[in-house]
Amino acid sequence: MASLTEEYVALSQYVTLKTGGAARYFVTATTPEEVTTAVLFAQQTKLPLFVLGGGSNLLVSDEGFPGVVIHMKLLGRTYTKIDSTTVLLTVAAGEELDAVVAETTRLQLWGLENLSHIPGSVGATPIQNVGAYGVEVSDVITEVTVFDTITKKIIAMKNEECAFSYRHSIFKEKNNLIVLSVTFLLSKIPSPKISYADLASVSDTLTTPQAIRDTVIAIRAQKFPDWNVVGTAGSFFKNPIIENAHAQALHAKYPDIPMYPEAHGPVKISLGYILDKICGLKGFAVGPVRLFEKQALVLVAEAGATTTDIKNFRKIVLDTVFEKTSLHVEQEVTEI
Ligand code: EPU
Repeated sequence: MASLTEEYVALSQYVTLKTGGAARYFVTATTPEEVTTAVLFAQQTKLPLFVLGGGSNLLVSDEGFPGVVIHMKLLGRTYTKIDSTTVLLTVAAGEELDAVVAETTRLQLWGLENLSHIPGSVGATPIQNVGAYGVEVSDVITEVTVFDTITKKIIAMKNEECAFSYRHSIFKEKNNLIVLSVTFLLSKIPSPKISYADLASVSDTLTTPQAIRDTVIAIRAQKFPDWNVVGTAGSFFKNPIIENAHAQALHAKYPDIPMYPEAHGPVKISLGYILDKICGLKGFAVGPVRLFEKQALVLVAEAGATTTDIKNFRKIVLDTVFEKTSLHVEQEVTEI
């Protein structure tokens, strides 16, 4: 077993919700070889395996995790010039996403700037296809390099092989694929993505990646609590994607619900609006857990909260939404 293995490590210190129990084994992996060693250890001992990135989208059971947690700490960024305007950037999975976005923005490379100030690691981004302010990471990814725990091979998967969709990818289906690095396609040619309303309204000023980054950071400061201070995982639930007929029925009853039609039929609707304006749950609190007063899709867990508190609170929220709208809402946050 790799030398950096610890036992009974409190996972609450590694997740931004700041709740949950301990990992039976906790391996800090700084090289692909350490990842392999930890995988083999889990397989030989028949223990479950979980790969932890930045912990910004994770709910850990109060009972902890009874297996091997690999803390993904592979580091490294490599820029490869393709031509006079295009650059490929390969980033190891353990790098912090926002540090990478800050750097590409500073270098005036277009592509990642809308994804500013998102907590978490680069390796996690393809798994749930992180997205914000009109851009999903799948728009910029060319390739994801993974370690396959079944074949024990490292393979490069092209964007098309990753089956990206809204907050989803093949990596959510197949947990044998451990992300080692992600390659992004960046451009020197200005390509501002300003479809998101708050960006469109100031579009004239958004002529550099830095201007977009600054604007996104300002918007986020209004909508999200500081994860350094309270427990939070950004949006706790996904925006529901529903059949057109159901969307029409909801629209007839609540004409102001923001709706985003997908290309073929289904409609994505705004759960933040539903929680806030239809269910009256913005700011709703039970003990130390509440829906954030500036964005109802964001759950806040104050100091002292447990994962059990969050799960009990979640049930009240989901039951209320179902009662009012007949919607079955999915959780965005991963749960172990
Ligand atoms: N709204 C309300 N009340 C609220 C919250 C939202 O009325 O309390 C309304 C807003 O006025 C707006 C609409 O709902 O008309 C959508 O809200 P917002 O633009 O804040 O975005 P969202 O759909 O709630 C999604 C992502 C966020 C991402 C933002 C911006 C999901 C689950 N969440 O939130 O991603 O930052 O769009 O692109 O898709 C995350 O995934 O953790 C995350 C933070």
